[in-house]
Amino acid sequence: MSRIVIEKDTKPYKPKPEDEGDSLCMCGLSKERPFCDGSHHKIKDEKEGKLYQYDKDGNAKEITIEDN
Ligand code: FES
Repeated sequence: MSRIVIEKDTKPYKPKPEDEGDSLCMCGLSKERPFCDGSHHKIKDEKEGKLYQYDKDGNAKEITIEDN
């Protein structure tokens, strides 16, 4: 299971003291990035060896990437 994430941020996020204890998003789907907002639950049906693309509403589509 893998997914393509379109990220538009162009600079790093410097954590603030009040961020301590918050979980960082590692799935790429959070709308509160860099923090987890629970969106990772959407990836539970992803299958090993498949590639997924998510739309802005969090709907998954299985995709393939063709070699040129
Ligand atoms: S790890 Fe990405 S939303 Fe939780």
